[in-house]
Amino acid sequence: MNLTHRPRRLRRDGIRELVTEVGLDAGDLVAPVFVDATADDRVPIESMPGQERVPVDEAADRVAELRAAGVEAVMVFGIPESKDERGTRAWANDGVVQAAVGRITAETDAYVITDVCLCEYTTHGHCGVVESAAAADPTLTVRNDETLRLLAKTAVSHAEAGADMVAPSSMTDGMVGAVREGLDDAGFAHVPIMSYAAKYESAFYGPFRDAADGAPAFGDRRHYQMDPGNAREALREVRLDVEQGADVLMIKPALAYLDIVSAVRREFGHPVAAYNVSGEYAMLHAAAEKGWLDLEAAALESLLAMKRAGADLIVTYFAETFADRL
Ligand code: PBG
Repeated sequence: MNLTHRPRRLRRDGIRELVTEVGLDAGDLVAPVFVDATADDRVPIESMPGQERVPVDEAADRVAELRAAGVEAVMVFGIPESKDERGTRAWANDGVVQAAVGRITAETDAYVITDVCLCEYTTHGHCGVVESAAAADPTLTVRNDETLRLLAKTAVSHAEAGADMVAPSSMTDGMVGAVREGLDDAGFAHVPIMSYAAKYESAFYGPFRDAADGAPAFGDRRHYQMDPGNAREALREVRLDVEQGADVLMIKPALAYLDIVSAVRREFGHPVAAYNVSGEYAMLHAAAEKGWLDLEAAALESLLAMKRAGADLIVTYFAETFADRL
């Protein structure tokens, strides 16, 4: 054959590295950390092999371990000692995230991001204030504007504890603007916001809801998280967050939503984050446990795909596994 074009020429060792389009760096990865105010010891999370909830006392040690493995940034989630209707422990100055962040920033040099949401802190497990009759009628839902004030207070309390960046994840309308205004008024104009800008109502959060004890007690999150069928709406959601001052735009989940990552990358100049969620982690582990695929190869390929789609950073439970090798 007299072929002019032979793409295989560039796939040989020696040249293939030179023409690689995207790579993965340790500096791209953010490791989630679950801090549990009810725990005295570390508690393994069954549905997320290798992940654990750590007591407040051990939060800094856990982050130091991640730093030693080459992870530079963490995202802190809290499991409070008690819950109530409004989620008041979310913004308590001595709350679980606030206490943990104080210790982590005192004892490590990790970049600390906090998840700002109420679902771990409310008895009903929803991401905000719910209508009083909602338990009886699940079509009723989170009261949007009332929730905004609470999110802003929570974000400010995280910044006061020393958080470097806050990540509001409740999918309430106006969430980024409310958090931005709260931070600015409290003297934290320098603290950036990573918005969960397009967060879908996804079955892939299952293991996380065990890990963080944040499953809704009734109904579901369809009234605030996005419909998986919608892509144009994601761009609209992202645009609203950009207008309200979001600094980093997160898409969540990642694997099943790479088209959204790619579209947001093309449309906006902001850094884009992908959240490689608990279910994506759990399914690779489960298949690998059965011997059906190579865990590390499949995980690396997934993370690379997120970068290729346009993510600048990736929040992933695989961070510790790979950071020191990248
Ligand atoms: C809280 C929150 C959730 C996740 C991150 N922040 C749960 C949810 O929305 O149900 C999921 C993370 C994961 O699955 O890894 N709102």
